[in-house]
Order: sequence, then structure tokens, then C-alpha cells
Amino acid sequence: MAKGDQLHQISSSSIIKRIQELKEKKNAIILAHNYQSGEVQDIADYLGDSLELSQKAAKSNADVIVFCGVRFMAETTSILCPKKTVLVPEYDAKCPMANMITAESLRTLKQKWPNAIVVCYVNTTASVKAESDICCTSANAVKVVEISKENEVIFVPDKYLAHYVTTQVEKKIIPWHGFCPTHVKILPEHIKKQRKLHPNAEVMVHPECIPPVIALADMVLSTGGMCKYARISKAKEIIVGTEVGLLHRLKKENPDKMFFPASELAVCPNMKLTTLEKVLWSLEDMKYEVRVPQAVAMKARKAVEKMLVIH
Ligand code: 13P
Ligand code: SF4
Repeated sequence: MAKGDQLHQISSSSIIKRIQELKEKKNAIILAHNYQSGEVQDIADYLGDSLELSQKAAKSNADVIVFCGVRFMAETTSILCPKKTVLVPEYDAKCPMANMITAESLRTLKQKWPNAIVVCYVNTTASVKAESDICCTSANAVKVVEISKENEVIFVPDKYLAHYVTTQVEKKIIPWHGFCPTHVKILPEHIKKQRKLHPNAEVMVHPECIPPVIALADMVLSTGGMCKYARISKAKEIIVGTEVGLLHRLKKENPDKMFFPASELAVCPNMKLTTLEKVLWSLEDMKYEVRVPQAVAMKARKAVEKMLVIH
């Protein structure tokens, strides 16, 4: 091992030790999204997709939750656990898609479609959730729309997830024009190239991908769904059409299988802002606390709680 690597190992092991001590002292837990870097995934108490992490947060007895992900995820946790201290190690880790719709524009859309139910993807700000009837994640979007009694559904903000839902459910979907800048980087030619290189591989993609990519996939799944599917699949090789961070977990949990990213370009820079050091500083200095104003949180909680029971 090179000397620099050795030094890095020593310092990261002392950082990890200090994180463990502070977690115990402060009765804290670390939740990390599947797109976090490997070093952050490895120190998490719970690793998961948006739905799984919200469910974990809601049931946790910890006083402090350090959320390694992006801001809307920590906001959702704070909405569900108003008495807990919710921290994000990196203040600027935000999901660009969540900022593609405002509460005001959603109100205008609702006026245009007064009979429609409003389903909002959890990748939204708290004030957009407060204007919605029910939230969903990529894990339960189809189910949420399917079981609603209304035939008209305003679905915000991801136009591609909305499109995927229209292929699964016979309802009128009124989409917004948001999208994930990371998932749109995965192109049909990337899938075709990987299929050629690995002819026996299965292809699983996230429903935030563009429709021509979805059309080439064997499975369309949330990141949590991909982890479950990888475990039970008979395939020894799997091509993964989502943010590349998920491959760390897939490889660790399935050492007998091989995973290939559909595209190395599918990196979410915001998810990568959180580091081991920042997790430590977060616990040391109790920063950055995420709090949702009470009036907004009260309205948003109804939509989020409804989402938690549908899977
Ligand atoms: P999951 O809910 O599948 O983890 O997705 C979250 C997300 O941000 C996808 O880009
Ligand atoms: Fe947002 Fe896309 Fe990053 Fe997920 S991968 S947090 S949707 S920008």
C-alpha cells in the first residue's frame, strides 16, 4: 500500500472512531441514501432509497438524525420527526429537480384542473408537498396513482416518472416539466453498448430515465427495488441504469455477481458533496440543522404520511 493511502486509512479510521463515539454520546443515527459515496455508505446505520429512509426515520428512537443525501430528504425526515434534530453534513447538497417547481406554480396548475388529485414526487420542497394531496417515491408512484379514486392526476415535478406512470396506469396524468439532470445523461446508445459488451446481462433502470431508455430495460425499479432484485435475480451480470453510487452497495451485497453502470456519466454531484469528514463535523458542531416552518410542515405531513403506508 502506498504511504499516502496508508495515511488516508489511518485518518479515516480515526474519523470513523470519533463518529461512533459522538453517535453514542448524542443518541444519533446516520441515514444515507444509496447514491452516497462508498465511505459514507459504509458508516451509515441505515442505507436505502427515499421511501425506506423516510420509513426508518419515522420509526427511529434517536434524538439526532444525520441525513446523508440531499435536502428534500432531510426536510421529509424533519416533517415526520418534528421533535428530533435533523442534520445535513453539507448545506449545499440540494436536488435540482426539487427546485423545478414552486408552490405558486402548483397552485396555478390546481386551478386549471380542479378535479384532479395532486401526487407529488418526494423530490420536492416542503412547500410543494404542503400543496399536494399525497407524496410518492419512485418505489410506489404507480401504486399511489393506481389506488387513488380520481381519474385525473396532477403529477409533479418529474415528467419522466410521470410518463412511466402513464404506461402502467389508465388515468389522465397531468405532468410538470421537471426532470433529473443526472438520469437524463443515460442514453439508449449506452444501454445498447453495454448489452453488446455483456450479452447475458439483465438491464435494470430507474424510472427517472428518459422513455427510450426505459423501453430498452428488463426492469424499472427504485434504487431500493434494484437492491432487492439484484439479490434474487438468477443473472450473474446486471447493467445498472441509475446514479453510479448504487454500484458500491450492489457489489458489496452480491460479491458473486457483476454490475456495470449503464453510463459512467450518471453522477449526481449533489449526492457526492457529503464526505466522512463532513459527517464528523456535523456531529461535532450539530450543523446544519434542517427545520421546516411549522405551518408548512403540518400541511406537508399529511401528504408524506399517506405515502409511507403504500408500498
Ligand atoms: P430512490 O427513491 O429510488 O432512491 O431515488 C431517489 C432519487 O433521488 C433518484 O434520483
Ligand atoms: Fe435529484 Fe437526480 Fe440527484 Fe436524485 S439523482 S438527488 S433526482 S439530481
